[in-house]
Amino acid sequence: MANLHVCRGPQELYEQAAALYARLADEALAARGRFMVALSGGSTTKGMHAVLSGDRYRAKIPWTCVHLFWGDERCVPPTHSESNYRMAEQTLLAQIAIPARNVHRIPAELPPAEAATAYEQVLREVFALSGEALPRFDLIFLGLGVDGHTASLFPGTPGVREDRRLVIAQYVEKLQAWRITLTPPVLNNAAQIIFLVSGADKAATLHDVLYGPFDPERLPAQLVRPTQGAVLWLVDQAAASALRG
Ligand code: 6PG
Repeated sequence: MANLHVCRGPQELYEQAAALYARLADEALAARGRFMVALSGGSTTKGMHAVLSGDRYRAKIPWTCVHLFWGDERCVPPTHSESNYRMAEQTLLAQIAIPARNVHRIPAELPPAEAATAYEQVLREVFALSGEALPRFDLIFLGLGVDGHTASLFPGTPGVREDRRLVIAQYVEKLQAWRITLTPPVLNNAAQIIFLVSGADKAATLHDVLYGPFDPERLPAQLVRPTQGAVLWLVDQAAASALRG
């Protein structure tokens, strides 16, 4: 049974996500002295950034102990309108006192394969990984595409079956574009995953992901099942409208 919380509307979803972020940050800092978070791209997460960078949380969260990563990135420069980093810079980073050394941007301006290798090296260094060890994020935010993708794991792409690398680059035919993404093993090693899903256009997909047959080639979001962690689906009523009954 999915761990699902239905919010009345988008704003309540953003507020709930920010409150969870703050609580998980406190817990991680108390336990390990740092909070390792991967942000998602897309529009839904922008609303949560606005709450986190607002008066209620901006000064509350000890940003000097937070390390920000990204779950995926478009293969564009960080100044490009499509860049997930640029969106986060405008809606969150510019308003908070986080040290630049704690912001681990995917260098997606590099050739795709180089960008993936470089980011994998960043993960190994910041998480101090050795051998085959996986990074364990305290929190990874994910979105859900209408086609069932999450991060940049799209239906029918090799990333869905990646079980070795930490980060891969893949060409997404339907987008006619390259993407960089964390892989299923990294997502499934997280302590907490929070999906943020808003809008009626996601309703049918959300139903199929949560209650339909397991078919990750068609619905990659179904891959996200942390082995020693939790998944929370934070959705609004519009996105949940196909779940009732
Ligand atoms: C991206 C995201 C992607 C996103 C979903 C949902 O780079 O676009 O990482 O996985 O989370 O497409 O996007 P919306 O929140 O805009 O619907």
